[in-house]
Amino acid sequence: MDNMIAIVLAAGRGTRMLSECPKVLHTLLDEPLLSYPLRALAELDLSRRLVVVGADQVGDRVVKSLSGFIGVEWPRQEHPRGTADAVAAALAALEGVSGTALILSGDVPLLTSATLRLFIEKHRQCRAQMTVMTAVLDDGGSYGRVLVDENNLPEAIVEARDATAEQLLNRRINSGTYLVDLDLLRRALATGNCANAQGEYYLTDMVAFARDAKVAAAIYDVPDINEILGVNTRLDLVDLETRLAARICRSWLDRGVTVRFPETVRIGPCVHIGPETEIDSGVTLSGSLVIGTGCSLGRGVIIKNCKIGNQVAVKPYSILEDAVVDDGAQVGPFARLRPGSDIGAGAKIGNFVEVKKSRFGKGAKASHLAYIGDAQVGEDSNLGAGTITCNYDGFKKYKTEIGRRVFIGSDSQLVAPVTLGDDALVAAGSTVTRDVAENALVSSRIRQKELPGRGMAWRRAAQEEK
Ligand code: UD1
Ligand code: MG
Repeated sequence: MDNMIAIVLAAGRGTRMLSECPKVLHTLLDEPLLSYPLRALAELDLSRRLVVVGADQVGDRVVKSLSGFIGVEWPRQEHPRGTADAVAAALAALEGVSGTALILSGDVPLLTSATLRLFIEKHRQCRAQMTVMTAVLDDGGSYGRVLVDENNLPEAIVEARDATAEQLLNRRINSGTYLVDLDLLRRALATGNCANAQGEYYLTDMVAFARDAKVAAAIYDVPDINEILGVNTRLDLVDLETRLAARICRSWLDRGVTVRFPETVRIGPCVHIGPETEIDSGVTLSGSLVIGTGCSLGRGVIIKNCKIGNQVAVKPYSILEDAVVDDGAQVGPFARLRPGSDIGAGAKIGNFVEVKKSRFGKGAKASHLAYIGDAQVGEDSNLGAGTITCNYDGFKKYKTEIGRRVFIGSDSQLVAPVTLGDDALVAAGSTVTRDVAENALVSSRIRQKELPGRGMAWRRAAQEEK
C-alpha cells in the first residue's frame, strides 16, 4: 500500500454558526464534531493524520479538546483564507513526502470508515491521481457543484455562490472529501488564486487544474447521502444529530438491543450495549459508556461515561455519570449517581437517593431519600429513608465508613469523619458523631416526653392568645 496521509480541515471560522465556540467543537450526541472524522480515520491504515486548525486561541482550544486522539498532528493555518490555504498549511509539514493525501472536512461528521475504504478502493481501481467524493442530491443547496464530462470524469467544481443558474441545476455535489497525489496537490495549490465570490483560496480549483494537466481523475458517488452532509449552520447541526441518532439506534436494534420509540432516544458513538438490553423512550446515553447484557433502562434515563454490568435495572428518570454499577444492581426511579459512585452487585439505590464518590458493597441498599457522599458502605448494609452522610463542613470533605450488615434507621445523620463497625445498628432519628463499635446499638435521639391529656388544653390556650 502506498503512503497515505490524512489531512482534516478544521480551521474555518464557522461564521454561519453565529457562535463564540469554534464550529468543530459544537457537539453531536455530546461529542465534538471534529471527533467524528478522527474516529473514522483511526480505523484506516494511514501513515500520518494532520488536522489543520487556526493559529490563534481558537485553534488552541480545538487541540486541547481533542488531545485524547493520540498521534494526531496539528498544523496551524495563520488566517482562514480558504480551504486551499488550509491544505497548504498541512503541506508545510509534509515537505519532501510523497504519497496520497486523503483530505476531509472537519464539519462532515457522518462519514464512516467503511465508505472511506470504498472510496480508496475506487481511487486505486481507477489508477487516479485525484478522486472526489460526490453525492447526487435532489437539491444541491449551498454545496459546490461537480461538473463532469460525458464519461463521468470530473472537469471542475463550482461553488454555489459562484455558479450560474444553469450550473446550480447540477445535482452532483462535492462532499469536500478527496484523494489526491501529494505532488499533484502541491502543483495545483501553487497556481491558485482567490478571484471568486468569497475572496478565498478554493481547494476545489484543483479539479480544473487536474483536467488541464490531463492527469487521471475520478469521482466516487456515495451510496448513502447522509454520510456527506456538512454542518454549516445550527439547523444543519440538529438535522444531522437526528439522522445520526436514528442510524445508531438502528444499528443497536440490529444487534439484539431493543430501543423503544427510537426517535426519542440518543445513543452516542462511543457507547457499547450488550444484547437483550431494553431501552425505553427518552433515554440519553453518551460519552464512553459500556452497558452489559440483559439490562433495562427506563424512560428518561440519562447515563454518561459509566460502566454498567449485566442484568442491571436503571428505572425511569435516573441520572448516572462517571459511575460503575455491577451485575444485578437496581437504580432508581429518580436516583442520581454522581461521579465516583460504585454500586456493587445486587445492590439497590432507590428513589430520590443521591450518591457521590461512594462504594456500595454487594447487596447493600439505600431504598429511599438519602444522600451518600464520600462513603464506603459494606456488603448487605441497609440505609433507611432519610439517611444522610454529613460529609462537608463548608471547607473540607470527610469520609464515612460503614461496615457490613449495618442497619441504619430512618432519618439518621452520619457526621463524617465517622466509622460504623460491622453489624452495628443505628436507631431511627439518630445523629451519629462518634465511631460506633461492631455489633453495637446506638441511639442519639432525645428521649420522648408525654404529657397525658394536655392536647386539648394546649389548643385552648393557643386559641385564647390569638
Ligand atoms: C466546502 C467546499 C464545497 C463543498 C463543501 C462540502 C470549498 C471551496 N468548498 O464548502 O465545494 O460542497 O465544503 O461540505 O472547499 N476550513 C479551513 N480553513 C479555511 C476555510 C475552511 O480549515 O480557511 C475548513 C473548515 O473548518 C471546514 C472545511 O474547511 O471544516 C470546509 O470549509 P467550509 O467553509 O465549511 O466550506 P463549505 O462552504 O462547506
Ligand atoms: Mg462546510
